[in-house]
Amino acid sequence: GVTREYHLRIGHKTLAPDGVPKQMMVINGQYPGPTIEGNWGDDIVVHVYNELTTNGTGIHWHGVRQLFNNPADGAVSQTECPIPPGGMRTYRWKATQHGSGWYHSHYSLQYTDGVLGPIVIHGPRTANYDIDLGPVLMTDHYHESAFKLQEKVSIDTLGLPPVADNGLINGKNVYKKGGAREEFVFTPGKKHLLRLANVGSEVTFRFSVDKHKMTVVAMDWTPIKPYETKTLFIGVGQRYDVIIEADQEPKDYWLRARPMLACLAVNAKTFNIRGIVRYDKTSTAEPDTLSHTIADVCVDESPSDLVPYHFHQVGLNAINDTGFSANLRPELVEKSKLRWNIGLEPYIPPKDSPTALSYINGVAPKDMDTYLVPVDLTSLGNEDKWVYIILQSSLPLAHPIHLHGHDVYVLGRGGGLFFEHYGLNLENPTRRDTVNLPATGWLALAFRLDNPGAWLLHCHIQWHLHHGFGMSVIEGTRKQVASVWASRKDEEERICRAWKATGL
Ligand code: C2O
Repeated sequence: GVTREYHLRIGHKTLAPDGVPKQMMVINGQYPGPTIEGNWGDDIVVHVYNELTTNGTGIHWHGVRQLFNNPADGAVSQTECPIPPGGMRTYRWKATQHGSGWYHSHYSLQYTDGVLGPIVIHGPRTANYDIDLGPVLMTDHYHESAFKLQEKVSIDTLGLPPVADNGLINGKNVYKKGGAREEFVFTPGKKHLLRLANVGSEVTFRFSVDKHKMTVVAMDWTPIKPYETKTLFIGVGQRYDVIIEADQEPKDYWLRARPMLACLAVNAKTFNIRGIVRYDKTSTAEPDTLSHTIADVCVDESPSDLVPYHFHQVGLNAINDTGFSANLRPELVEKSKLRWNIGLEPYIPPKDSPTALSYINGVAPKDMDTYLVPVDLTSLGNEDKWVYIILQSSLPLAHPIHLHGHDVYVLGRGGGLFFEHYGLNLENPTRRDTVNLPATGWLALAFRLDNPGAWLLHCHIQWHLHHGFGMSVIEGTRKQVASVWASRKDEEERICRAWKATGL
């Protein structure tokens, strides 16, 4: 592999992605941010400059494994202090996975206002296509700043999340004059790769292209055995690589990201998130095509379809008594404020020192919502250690659950109450970084203990995380965590001092 170097400058800018001007926070003056691209095995080096005046920042490389590389995770409060205004930080990581990903600010609600972009890592093909059309980023969109909307949520005794005004595809849509639609050009008879990602803050989408079928070849960073479908359910943070053959009448078609209203408690607003697929790139016509039939149900893609291309077996001890377990229950607590709770209490990001450094320094992390697995990872030999997590939701809302620093193995899921470990799938289960926890249901996950550090486990719905729906998972002995931090600790402490001095 080679080294690929990028410079990301995060600053304020007023843009009108759908025709409505919004004060955004964007990267290198553009939204979405530039694509971080490389080949499998490359070393990625990204210099991030904070040119904001009102916020700190920090960039997280969503789903990137960061094996023995906790300091590069970019999880503000877990692994780093925010980069202060005027400051910069360099992230170095290896592309040990290939496929489609994204990066985003992990500072408060900042990515909702624009600090995000795609990652493309080219690797060996597991299915054939002719043309790579690149990222298709879908997001809900709010005309007001997320920070302003947030204030409204906190004073609203019902605590309902804000309702999106619109949605965007690759940062574009039409709300009023001045907006434009993203267009994709299909070459007749050819197979096109589209790298779908939901980079939104709350809304779950069903993706489709009128009249066309697609072959799904990867989920998150994991290639899967190809399967065919007309529409695809895609939750916040999730990605799918799909291949679409241009095998229809040569004309213009709608490409749709349909919000799944059934995934929200209250959101009666319908909106129209569309791009255009053209067989003739000179056409300027509005498509007149009709959508596939889409049932508005909040059910994720079936685990029986999401079978990893490369076989992995989950260690048997993942679900026996020598493993570790955590029973977590997201809940609404406090009467006048919305608080989500996973683990013992709502997750409140520590302010003074990132969790990883507190752990190394022998200070109990300020955030009490921590799951500590202080197991010695080097003495394991060939015997894998696994952690399993049972998530139980008591509310009629689905949640995209994301764990940093690991591949998550989805052992099972279901409606109602989790009952028994019996019957969970350990043979090549779905393996991804963001998993849908069904509404009033359960999710059984496992991950291998192989990556010392402090990692965040959280709901990727921005309002939920902001209201405490997360927890720290600290993995490895103090010595092991200290060793992955050895060359970065001083630099981090310097940034923390600079951050504190800003008084933000
Ligand atoms: Cu995509 Cu904790 O993040």
